[in-house]
Amino acid sequence: MLQIDIITVLPELLESPFQHSILKRAQSKGLVQVNLIQLRDYANNKHRSVDDYAYGGGAGMVMTIEPILNCLNDLKSKRQYDEIIYLSPDGELLDQQLSNKLSLCQNMILLCGHYKGIDERIREHLITREVSIGDYVLSGGELAAAVLADSVIRLLPGVLTDETSALYDSFQDGMVAPPVYTRPADFNGWKVPDVLLSGNERQITEWRHEQALERTRKRRPGLLKEGE
Ligand code: ADE
Repeated sequence: MLQIDIITVLPELLESPFQHSILKRAQSKGLVQVNLIQLRDYANNKHRSVDDYAYGGGAGMVMTIEPILNCLNDLKSKRQYDEIIYLSPDGELLDQQLSNKLSLCQNMILLCGHYKGIDERIREHLITREVSIGDYVLSGGELAAAVLADSVIRLLPGVLTDETSALYDSFQDGMVAPPVYTRPADFNGWKVPDVLLSGNERQITEWRHEQALERTRKRRPGLLKEGE
């Protein structure tokens, strides 16, 4: 079972994303355990403070080493972690390939930053990987952690009811997904492509592949290798 421990000053913010639908079911089936850990519980000071002024001046507070180190030491004394990930806009960009790789982990920690970030020495000495979910800045790492966790959890065997369905997701084969349709076949003149109604499985598979390829060329040419 995958265990994801999320260290944050705002655990309440992360409660809801894991209490619905696929992510909720994954936990009740025992396929993943998500723990929300309040970083302030590891601050040994009167005000449970976890940040301080930046050396050298400038705007914004920086998260201090001690509470994070205490928290990591506590977690690491209980189990071994494959990854200790810091969510940050300057990390490596999350993509399907990275989610696939992370879905093979047993235990991972996601550390959510706030303010101007965390003391650089934590990143140097304690973090195994830094991940960004896109080239924009969020007000904290929590939403990024939820995105990463969601993309990983849905890949765990048994989480999706139709186990094959993650295989056909966008990006899984380096392409975006083909268009999908449901009833009615004709909505006031808006028609479903004939081939999908034909019952010819080979033709349907071929059509979907062509559509995926064309869509990828048009919308995300960067995903294709040369010549495709
Ligand atoms: N924290 C703030 N912005 C972020 C981003 N884009 N990705 C990951 N963590 C972040």
